[in-house]
Amino acid sequence: MRAIEIRKKYLDFFKNHGHKIIPSSPLIPENDPSVLFTTAGMQPLVPYLLGEPHPEGKRLTDYQKCVRTNDIDEVGDNRHLTYFEMLGNWSLGDYFKEESISMSFDFLTKELNIPVEKIYVTVFKGDSDCPRDELAAACWKKAGILDGHIYYYGKDDNWWIAGETGPCGPDTEMFYDTGKLKCSENCQPSCDCGKYVEIWNNVFMEYFKSETGYSKLKQQNVDTGMGLERITFLLQGKETPFDTELFKGVMDKLFELQKNDIIESRRIVAEHLRSSMMIIADGGRPTNLDRGYVLRKLIRRMIRHMNKLGIELNELSTLIDINVDNLKELYPELEKNKEKIKQVMIEEKDKFVKTLNNGEREFEKEVKKLKEQVKDTLDGKIVFRLYDTYGFPPEVTKDLATENGMKISMEEFDKLFKEHQEKSRAGSDKKFKGGLASTGEIETKYHTATHLLNAALKQVLGSHVHQRGSNITEERLRFDFSHDSKMTDEEKQKVEELVNKWIADKIPVEHFEMKKEEAIAQGAEAMFIEKYGDIVSVYKIGDISLELCGGPHVKNTEELGHFKIKKEEASSSGVRRIKAILE
Ligand code: SER
Repeated sequence: MRAIEIRKKYLDFFKNHGHKIIPSSPLIPENDPSVLFTTAGMQPLVPYLLGEPHPEGKRLTDYQKCVRTNDIDEVGDNRHLTYFEMLGNWSLGDYFKEESISMSFDFLTKELNIPVEKIYVTVFKGDSDCPRDELAAACWKKAGILDGHIYYYGKDDNWWIAGETGPCGPDTEMFYDTGKLKCSENCQPSCDCGKYVEIWNNVFMEYFKSETGYSKLKQQNVDTGMGLERITFLLQGKETPFDTELFKGVMDKLFELQKNDIIESRRIVAEHLRSSMMIIADGGRPTNLDRGYVLRKLIRRMIRHMNKLGIELNELSTLIDINVDNLKELYPELEKNKEKIKQVMIEEKDKFVKTLNNGEREFEKEVKKLKEQVKDTLDGKIVFRLYDTYGFPPEVTKDLATENGMKISMEEFDKLFKEHQEKSRAGSDKKFKGGLASTGEIETKYHTATHLLNAALKQVLGSHVHQRGSNITEERLRFDFSHDSKMTDEEKQKVEELVNKWIADKIPVEHFEMKKEEAIAQGAEAMFIEKYGDIVSVYKIGDISLELCGGPHVKNTEELGHFKIKKEEASSSGVRRIKAILE
């Protein structure tokens, strides 16, 4: 079945079950500057999920164009995409679990003809916020799901919310068994080895999460989402979305044009090409900020991989033509905006080529000098100068060096890069540096504990909490934060418990460099964001904390030991101070 047929079957099925078909919202959300792109079918429907009557009624269905960029660096493997289409159906305070599950079962088994043996489902196992979803499990059994094909998981797997706060609830997910061997005895739907692939998610949205906790919504909603690319490749018995008609035209052309056979690069070019075209068709333009920067990054990454494949950049225009032809049935807006898409992408390509050319010229001069001196290593200073003065991406310098048979010192580059950041930050933010007066092993632990404390305070006291100051010695951490009143014993205890839980959870601490705008877009925490340079250093602790910070940090929260608050007091007006220790 082709993607367009699956989409049609889906919309027709729900139409026949009393749903009104509504149009996809644009990728660039209307009247909502707080999100970069539409990321789910429910996003444009939030007011109606909260209780406002929808002009089309209580049963809706649509296909929604979505862009999710958190996994942009993973694109190139067999499944990650930045653009995807979500098929969805909604009950706005109308039907609930039973009817939703029965319709999903019928659609999968009778419309898509998936054998019931291939379907596995998961339901919420329950916790102190919301009970175990026995009803969902019973509905699945009644519908015909086989014994042993129902799994119970916690919030990590079977709870859905867009972001930190908003309408949410337990969900039930449907998985397709690809028939591959189990990766281990313990292999089950939650495993991401590729045996089980999630195809549909029905959220029973009856809660609202605010900064202080959960409450019940006015009405019980259902919000479902099925990824079109996934269901398409699975039903076609293909290994990846890139093997379906959605990408095949461009993938084949890239194969024909390439001089170097790199499958990851072909996928990146095909995927980013499609994403960029969809964003431009919906009015997006490359800039240095927010969504414009995401688009710029997509186009530049695509160009770099065209270069890697050894494909003439002038072929871009042909690739756009092919993609419009392949996708215009699904997205007529691509054909309508074809000239604009070409103009924007080609202009952006030319700009990037200029940057690359200038950098390359400088690169060649440096290589010539080194060869005259019979040296074979490009030191980090040169890589840094090319980056700093010419905007030449270090990974390109690395590729060129390899092509020229030169070695390259990326560690030195990383060090210089960090120093440069610290310098640009130090002048304007002495306090921040003060927090890092010395950084031995113990101080490093306190430093990570400070990030956890900041996150825990936000969860317990509210999102108004922001860092106002920090100071670390070998004996303790001191943390100043915005909050009006004295913390109660219970609040302090909750904060301690949260931090200790995260330590017990053994969460890896990850470090990234990214554009400041991107860090802001991802909601990174920072004391004086406007005072940082263009490229910032960011530390991420699972889903718990994302902070602009020069480090250093421990590698995993498990290294921290036990966290304890020693003192909580006023620091200045509207600012509280905590002293805490690790023991
Ligand atoms: N909102 C849910 C999701 O994105 C279901 O549509 O998966």
